[in-house]
Amino acid sequence: MTGLRGRALRGTFVHAPVRGEIEVLDDVVVSLDAEGRIDRVVPAAEGVPEGTVELPAGQLVLPGFVDLHVHAPQYPQLGLALDEPLEVWLQKYTFPLEARYADLDFAREAYGTLVTDLLAGGTTTALYFATVHREATELLAEISLAQGQRALVGKVVMDLAESCPDYYRDATPQAAIDDTRAVIDHIRALPGNDRVLPVITPRFIPSCTDEALTGLGQLAAECGCHVQTHCSESDWAHGYALERFGRTDTDALRQFGLLTRKTVLAHSVFLTDADMDEVRAAGAGVAHCALSNMYFGNAVFPLRKALDKGLHVGLGTDISGGPSASMLEACRTTVAASRVLDDGVDAERPAGERGRPGSRVDMLTAFHLATAGGGVALDLDIGLFRPGYHFDALIVDPAAAAGTVRLFGAQPVERIEQILYTASRANLAAVYVGGDLVSGADRSGAYS
Ligand code: GUN
Ligand code: FE
Repeated sequence: MTGLRGRALRGTFVHAPVRGEIEVLDDVVVSLDAEGRIDRVVPAAEGVPEGTVELPAGQLVLPGFVDLHVHAPQYPQLGLALDEPLEVWLQKYTFPLEARYADLDFAREAYGTLVTDLLAGGTTTALYFATVHREATELLAEISLAQGQRALVGKVVMDLAESCPDYYRDATPQAAIDDTRAVIDHIRALPGNDRVLPVITPRFIPSCTDEALTGLGQLAAECGCHVQTHCSESDWAHGYALERFGRTDTDALRQFGLLTRKTVLAHSVFLTDADMDEVRAAGAGVAHCALSNMYFGNAVFPLRKALDKGLHVGLGTDISGGPSASMLEACRTTVAASRVLDDGVDAERPAGERGRPGSRVDMLTAFHLATAGGGVALDLDIGLFRPGYHFDALIVDPAAAAGTVRLFGAQPVERIEQILYTASRANLAAVYVGGDLVSGADRSGAYS
């Protein structure tokens, strides 16, 4: 694979270490070590080492996007049946599709296309739900590694007979735990694996037995790996745990040992104040899926409140609960959803009673969450241009003719917000993960 390991790139880099702000590293040289981590960031005025790759004028380097919630097997139904409520959509469309991944040929084709497309869209790290199948989950990890994507991959656990169909379910709680352990071992032992990690993945409480949840919690403590699940996504999903356990799903997950520093809770729309305190105390993170929540969430996640309380938050597309695979779109929808919450939605109510003032976030905050925020949630050194961080980066060409950014002569570095709102895949000239060139119009040359 071509790339920048052991070399240096000169250009203007833009990242967002804190929410609401960007930091512009104007005309700097970023040098990489042999492992593809950032070694040094120094102004070009201090000297440019020989062999440094120079970015063309007008182009910018941004951190790669971290998508904190992707159902890899659902890519073939992106944009399908979003007029159904969550529990119907799962049973009628999603479980039948996911069951097809018992067929490894189908899995290979769908997963290969997904990873290629996500890299082209700038998603350098993805936190993936796979399916219940051990082999197909391992295949997703192998495909991510082969294409160079930083990926966290989980075998989905769903073993509760009353809520999961006969044709798509773990055979027993013990089989679910054993298969999860086998996938963890397999991923950790993949030859040359410097970027794919295993994830313990109970689908959500409504699909799991107490026995499976207990066993997965023990496994999380034993293996120290990441955990992901859906939490308080909709009225129905939130209400389910209250009925079954007499406590919220967040609290139940904590009791099962599934709320850790390396846990990512998808959605979390209906977290109570006490739930948020538990999430923060555990150092766990939330995958905010603004677009998907419009269809299945029944409400808008109080993002500002979660951030103000100090929770780790990143963004997720929730392919295919959300009909877009683009993290740029996820940023845009995050801003829009926050404004809808701020203002409210019912035009027949007086303005003062319509929304929740103080809820809006800006694009720079969304960009921070989609990059550095995702890195913090995953406890990985990604999302920033700092020594020690992995060089996961996008070369943005605002002037690309086939792209959608039109600056009419303005300097790109002064128009980051506009670029984030209007850019599309054609504006991403190259994509790097760990210093390796993984996507781009010119994988053979221009930037490597
Ligand atoms: N809850 C349980 N499974 C799913 C899923 O596949 N998508 C979404 N959006 N919510 C879920
Ligand atoms: Fe989901």
